[in-house]
Amino acid sequence: MSDQHVPVARWARPPEGPALVLLDQTRLPAEEAELVCADVPALVAAIRSLAVRGAPLLGIAGAYGVALAAARGDTVAEAARLLAEARPTAVNLAYGVRRAERAYDGAVARGADPAEAAAAALAEAEDLHREDAEASDRMAGHGLALLEELLPTGDLRLLTHCNTGRLVSGGHGTAFAVVRAAHRAGRLRQLWVDETRPLLQGARLTAYEAAREAMPYSVLADNAAGSLFAAGQVDAVLIGADRIAADGSVANKVGSYPLAVLARHHRVPFLVVAPVTTVDPETPDGAAIVVEQRDAREVTELPSPAAGTTGGVPVAPSGSAAYNPAFDVTPPGLVSALVTERGVVSPVTENGIQELCSMSLSG
Ligand code: MRU
Repeated sequence: MSDQHVPVARWARPPEGPALVLLDQTRLPAEEAELVCADVPALVAAIRSLAVRGAPLLGIAGAYGVALAAARGDTVAEAARLLAEARPTAVNLAYGVRRAERAYDGAVARGADPAEAAAAALAEAEDLHREDAEASDRMAGHGLALLEELLPTGDLRLLTHCNTGRLVSGGHGTAFAVVRAAHRAGRLRQLWVDETRPLLQGARLTAYEAAREAMPYSVLADNAAGSLFAAGQVDAVLIGADRIAADGSVANKVGSYPLAVLARHHRVPFLVVAPVTTVDPETPDGAAIVVEQRDAREVTELPSPAAGTTGGVPVAPSGSAAYNPAFDVTPPGLVSALVTERGVVSPVTENGIQELCSMSLSG
């Protein structure tokens, strides 16, 4: 593992580009390989295969995708549609695409030539990238302050699910950024990392990030979480989100909802950390969130870095059917607090979400 960070996403100008160059997350932790997306179909394939993933980063990638189409002289509206539809659940993807598309359309409406309109789309993608890094630092600050308030004494044993760090963000991420802040403040005794079946974002990616940050961590099989709670080994759960509905329902990686139920039973705080771009006031409630259903082979085969998200090692008889939702939905009543760059919402209610959306930055 090198000490240098390969950028999670970088824009390449000519002669290397125009292209969006991604750290290929399907190859981690075995290899830090870059994946060059020189056109929109390549980027759509990277999004679908989870080479690039995680809600905030999907937004950033979507915005750069629009800039890429514009730089290539492709039809921007069609490219924007393909990108926004590449995965359905994380609202950040459509948000990032729309922002860059609006910037492009606005420039065209003002009489810009194609190169100027493409530059406007790229500038918007770069703004979103930078804003996400800033949001990440603010979430880390608000989240650490909340942990200090809820759990003022003792070292913390935190449990997380999926991957929410540098690999999903322009900065240090969402929930993982809070864990990192706790670690840097000397409060982290143990990070429990759910492996996160079927695609192992916890074991492959969060453990990789925790190791790079020299955190004390252990990976556990998802179904071992219950016995950890029962043993009193979890002080708080921190997760990210892919879409937060107007009523505060939280869609996140499948396996989040059972953790929320466990946390409530064991009276452990269950904290969701997400930028405001993940809140979707147009989705009224949890039932209205479209949950992505993925290929059965992701469940019937174990992923292998060489073979990508499907085409790994078979673990079920060939042809077995599978239930493979990529996300589940946690009702707001099970969420102790929502930590955003604008501050903390607790309890998580429709009114609280409305106030958050109308609020400006603080802290
Ligand atoms: O399918 P993935 O790997 O894109 O799912 C990612 C997650 O569920 C993350 O927890 C979520 O995007 C929040 S990351 C800030």
